[in-house]
Amino acid sequence: MSGRPKLHTRLCDMLEIDYPIMLAGMGSMGKATPPALVAAVSNSGGMGVIGGAGLEPETIRQKIRETRKLTDKPIGVDLLLPVNLDTNAEPTRTTLRQQIERDYPKHYAFMREQLEKHGIAEVQVASETVVSVDQTRAQVEVVLEEDVQVFAAGLGDPSWIVPMAHEKGMTVVGLVGSPRNAERQVAAGCDIVVAQGYEAGGHTGKIANFPLIPQVVDAVSPIPVVAAGGMADGRGITAALSLGAIGVWLGTAFLVAEEGETHEENKQQIIDGHSQQFDPQRWYSGKPSRLFGNDYIKAWEASGLQPLPMPYQRVITDDFNASVAAADKLELHMNPAGQIAGMITEHKPAKQIMEELVSGTIATLEGVRDTVDVG
Ligand SMILES: Cc1cc2nc3c(=O)[nH]c(=O)nc-3n(C[C@H](O)[C@H](O)[C@H](O)COP(=O)(O)O)c2cc1C
Repeated sequence: MSGRPKLHTRLCDMLEIDYPIMLAGMGSMGKATPPALVAAVSNSGGMGVIGGAGLEPETIRQKIRETRKLTDKPIGVDLLLPVNLDTNAEPTRTTLRQQIERDYPKHYAFMREQLEKHGIAEVQVASETVVSVDQTRAQVEVVLEEDVQVFAAGLGDPSWIVPMAHEKGMTVVGLVGSPRNAERQVAAGCDIVVAQGYEAGGHTGKIANFPLIPQVVDAVSPIPVVAAGGMADGRGITAALSLGAIGVWLGTAFLVAEEGETHEENKQQIIDGHSQQFDPQRWYSGKPSRLFGNDYIKAWEASGLQPLPMPYQRVITDDFNASVAAADKLELHMNPAGQIAGMITEHKPAKQIMEELVSGTIATLEGVRDTVDVG
């Protein structure tokens, strides 16, 4: 701690961390927030958060324990709690695939056409588990059993988890994309609301951060707000603090960290890409999700088909990703990332990313004071 610059807000007191910077818990099959990255962010004074969405409960336990071997600082786990699952079927991949083949045959046909066009053999995801209420309950149980300080709900209503988490002394965080959802998350008992703007990578709402953050701050005061989306340097963090947030939750900025395990081709798309190449669309999961517009996404958009609702579309996406990964055509792999990708130009270790975020925020805060004369 000694010798480190000071950048302290109420979030630091709430979470017992040095800097008000949280690593967004990004699902992505465990690759976006592996233990080494989560631990590096926590060891650098921020809050590392494991993205547990889509992982088997025991895999989440293993990731938490691996992270624990690397840091004794506070860590968190983010889960997506299912909402509006449009299925009455026993949700295994096999039954969902059969349903898609029967009810929406053009969708798998489209995927196969694309695989053929690129000379790729079809591979189906082996795991039968898809997002379901039972799986979510089992994931939550693991998080509550292990040594975790923050539970984050990326989607859905965490009210049934809040009493159990509080009993264990955990802080509960709810992600929102609108003031109305922020009020709901506070009513559900969340201790902190993460306001995630339209600019953000992954699933995203419709309101950009400049209008979103102050409205959420006003809607939930005195519950504190952390800002997410479109920040990768001290200028963005300073803007979020000016809008009333007490900290930030960063995804894309850490996707290119050296500790990150997303495919190198996907990291390179972020490093080379321009902001306008990262648009929201529903071909990933059925819900609007911002990702790199690769050739497969462009072909979907041109196809005239409509995206399937959750969880069907994701079953197709997962099979497509498994196929391109097996064929080493990773430039076609789905790559969720935010508009701020346009500003990210190199790989760095997470510790350096953290140090630059902190020093950049301090410099920007001081620069604003020097620039603006308020008499
Ligand atoms: C690859 C990727 C995966 C994500 N997965 C999740 C997730 O599983 N749960 C969640 O709450 N948010 C998820 N998000 C959204 C992040 O939590 C965060 O809000 C977002 O990355 C912030 O915007 P930024 O990318 O501009 O920093 C994901 C984002 C990305 C880029």
